[in-house]
Amino acid sequence: MDHAPHNPFVALSVKISRRLDSARDKKTCGEDLGRFVASPYSESHGATGSQSAPYRGLEEIFGNIDLTPEDSFIDIGCGKGRVLAYLAGTGAPCRITGVELNPEVASVAGRWSARFPNVEVINGDAFDLDYNGYTVLFMYRPMEKDTFMDFIDMLEKSLTHNITFIYYADGQSGYYLNDRPGWKLIKRKEIMGAGGLYIHKEPQRYSIWKYSPG
Ligand SMILES: C[S@@+](CC[C@H](N)C(=O)[O-])C[C@H]1O[C@@H](n2cnc3c(N)ncnc32)[C@H](O)[C@@H]1O
Repeated sequence: MDHAPHNPFVALSVKISRRLDSARDKKTCGEDLGRFVASPYSESHGATGSQSAPYRGLEEIFGNIDLTPEDSFIDIGCGKGRVLAYLAGTGAPCRITGVELNPEVASVAGRWSARFPNVEVINGDAFDLDYNGYTVLFMYRPMEKDTFMDFIDMLEKSLTHNITFIYYADGQSGYYLNDRPGWKLIKRKEIMGAGGLYIHKEPQRYSIWKYSPG
């Protein structure tokens, strides 16, 4: 497969993948979660826009994670809730939470997820939460590099128990976790295609970590 950027075959394949994702959204949530929403909080909070993670990428990543009823999962920057939809739709047996800064997209996640008793959406700033109530933390690059670093510093200062941390699209800032005390890399992998389709126009990396406070 030719991975050159702007390859029309890749672009078409990504488009098909996004259409299939929209169909899956409608099946689980009754609405399409695929629309990109630019962030009004990029200057003030170092926030990225609301882009939904591709289901095939989530399948690849969560194939490595065994969620149990004792777990409590949170998507930090949940957007319109694609990750919550993936987990709710596949019957994840644990509590599933999303926190989202932008009310425009948080309201979408809150609306469709209301009929899933184990899913909760919080409209607020991820920096204001206590993560000691969660065992599995997920991020699909919600923040620019410096803000991500501040967030990791905040986590390290406040966490009192072990967590699993999943970072999707870690190419820009994931290096900050390398060789850091308490952080153990479980897996790091590049993905561009899955299930016979391209899901990203350029390769993206994800990483899975265990963090144990010192
Ligand atoms: C790239 S989207 C990912 C959406 C979702 N996690 C997914 O994978 O489909 C990142 C989201 O993080 C949100 N975000 C950025 N900074 C945040 C913060 N400090 N607190 C809560 N949400 C934040 C953005 O508003 C945006 O909706």
